[in-house]
Order: sequence, then C-alpha cells, then structure tokens
Amino acid sequence: MDISTICVHGCDKHYDTTGAIAVPIFASSTFAHPGVGKSTGFDYSRSQNPTKEYLEHTVAALEGGTQAVAFSSGMAALGALMELFSPGDHIVAIDDLYGGTYRLFSHISQKNGVTFSYAGSMEDINREITPATKAVFIETPTNPMMRVTDIAAVAQITRQRNLLLIVDNTFLTPVFQRPLSLGADIVLHSGTKYLGGHNDTLSGMLVVKDNALAEKLRFISKTTGAGLSPFDSFLIVRGIKTLAIRMERQQETALAAAKWLTGQSKIKAVHYIGLPEHPGYEISSRQASGFGGMLSFTVKEEQTAVSILERVKVIKYAESLGGVESLITYPMLQTHADLPESERIARGIDACLLRLSVGLEAPDDIIADLKQALE
Ligand SMILES: Cc1ncc(COP(=O)(O)O)c(C=O)c1O
Repeated sequence: MDISTICVHGCDKHYDTTGAIAVPIFASSTFAHPGVGKSTGFDYSRSQNPTKEYLEHTVAALEGGTQAVAFSSGMAALGALMELFSPGDHIVAIDDLYGGTYRLFSHISQKNGVTFSYAGSMEDINREITPATKAVFIETPTNPMMRVTDIAAVAQITRQRNLLLIVDNTFLTPVFQRPLSLGADIVLHSGTKYLGGHNDTLSGMLVVKDNALAEKLRFISKTTGAGLSPFDSFLIVRGIKTLAIRMERQQETALAAAKWLTGQSKIKAVHYIGLPEHPGYEISSRQASGFGGMLSFTVKEEQTAVSILERVKVIKYAESLGGVESLITYPMLQTHADLPESERIARGIDACLLRLSVGLEAPDDIIADLKQALE
C-alpha cells in the first residue's frame, strides 16, 4: 500500500462498533477489569491508551517498524531513549545535531555516566568507536546545516560492531526516508514537527523493528511516565492524514525558495539538499525519495539576518518547523544557543545563518515575503 494511503487511513485497529471514521479520543486514565487477573488489554493510560496505541501502530506502519512508542515531546522520547544506556556506556553522535539533543547529551546523560564523541564523517565515526561504544546517533539531514549522512553505510559499521544505530528522521519523515529499511535500529521523531504538522501539539516517537527492544522502551515509558496524552495522540493522528501531501507541497516551495535565494546578492550560501550542488544531493537522491521542506542559508552580513527576522510578515520569526505556517529561526539565539560558542561557529551556526521551514502558503507569497525582507 502506498505511504499516502497509510497516512490517510492509519492502522487497521478498530476500537468501537459505531463505524466512526476518526479514531475516538479515549479520555480515560484507567480501565475497568472484567475479572480478577483479567484485562481488556488496557489497564492504566500511563502504560497504554487506545488512542495512543492507534497512533503508535500508524507510525510503526509508516516507518516499516514493528512497534512505535509515543511520547509527550521529541525530547521526552530522547530522554527515554537514553535510559537504554548505563554508566560507562559510550555513544558516537554526528557533530551537527539539534541543539536540544546536544544539551541532553552534555548536561543530563553525561552527568549520568554516559560519554559521547562527536563525528563529522564516516571515517570519524569509525575512529571514535571504542569497546565501550553502544550506539551511533545520527540526524540526516542535520538541523540546521542540512548535512547528509549515508544511513546504509553507517548501518554496515554498526552491524559489524554490534552497535545500535539511532536515526532522527524528523526532517524527512517516513514519506521521504525510512531509516529502518536502510539498517537503522531505532528511528526518532519530534512529532511536534511534520507528523503533527500544524504547530499546535508537542509529541515524540521512537520506532523499532525488534520487539525485545520495543518492550524495553515500553517499560521505560510506563516507568518514567512521559507517554503522549489521548488528546494529543488524536491530534497527531489527524495531522498524519495529510502528511504525504504536505511533504510534497512543502518540498516544492522549499526548492523554489532555495533557487530564488541562491541568486540574491546579499546571500552567501544556501543549504538545501534538493539543490544538485549540495554536497549531500547524491546520497539524498539514493537513500530518500524527496528532499523535504527545510533549508538554511547564510547571509553576507549579520545586519541582513537581523533585518530579515524583523521584516518578514507571512513567514513568522519563531522556533520549530514542519508546520503549515512558514517559520524562520535564528539558530544561534534559539535552537542552538546552548552549544559552546567555538563549536557553534566551527559548525557554521553563526550570526549570519538563518533556518527556514517552508509551510503551505503559496510559493509566490513566500518568495515575495523574503524579497521585501531582504531589500
Ligand atoms: C531534529 C529534532 N529532533 C528532536 C527535536 C526535539 O523535539 P521536541 O521539540 O518535540 O521536544 C527537535 C526540536 O526542534 C528537532 O528539530
């Protein structure tokens, strides 16, 4: 079945007999037992709730996994993921990551005894692996520099070394990229972004192929308690119904905006993986079926960046991405403010870098807005 059909119809779980087309919101924290030692399959919503279960089955089907676990935010999913590791364990992570992920690793996980090395290339990943390494963590494309990593090539390394490969698939979503089919073990999402798609709900997802790993994550979720609520599960299910068509349209507009920005005199560089000159274009074309709706660009002068942020009208100056409203972000002051300055600048996240999440407005209106903001 095509992924767009799975998006619309969700999973094949049915919880009511009325024929309701939309999954019901089961606003119940607890469930009555039919007898002693008997369960309807639902006991207490921290463990599982039917609306959340429906969402999890849907996302597992989209990613080609066997199970998914839904959390109250992407960071809650990451926090639960880190509970798989113990003091002394080591993780190799790609060196361009969402700033909040870096903050979790360096301020929370490290305090709990897990150590990290950061790698910028395939050779670096191989070199940083030690006997204590348990996992490799990548984002592809990365936030905000849009760097691309060859998932299948990293999977070959992690398989040989018996390590977990974790891929943050927030930017491309299963509509364009399915890391589990390329050898990843765990896929992570900030469902706040494209899955929800309307800038109105936080959520996070972990998706796996291996049932034993899924059970560990479920145990962590019910024990630490950051599962997604039934209301928010419903909103993410509803968002997913239009995911495929949104991704297609957002990608078209992102390409148009990237091409237009490329020709402007105040712009130094445009980072969009759908431009053939992007260094990750070839790998992206091979491992994904689309390039997505995210781009970043570097202007020649800091003042230009500030005036764009202050002058955009249709596009909103705000954090987050992936929703129907276009958002422009200043990574230096927002998403990546917690990165040490020298590392931030070495990665290109400086006062001249802006990140643009293209929404569903007409492409001409987005370009006209950028044009008037740049003048
Ligand atoms: C790539 C990526 N991963 C994870 C997260 C964290 O997700 P959330 O904001 O839903 O906690 C974000 C948030 O911006 C992100 O961009």
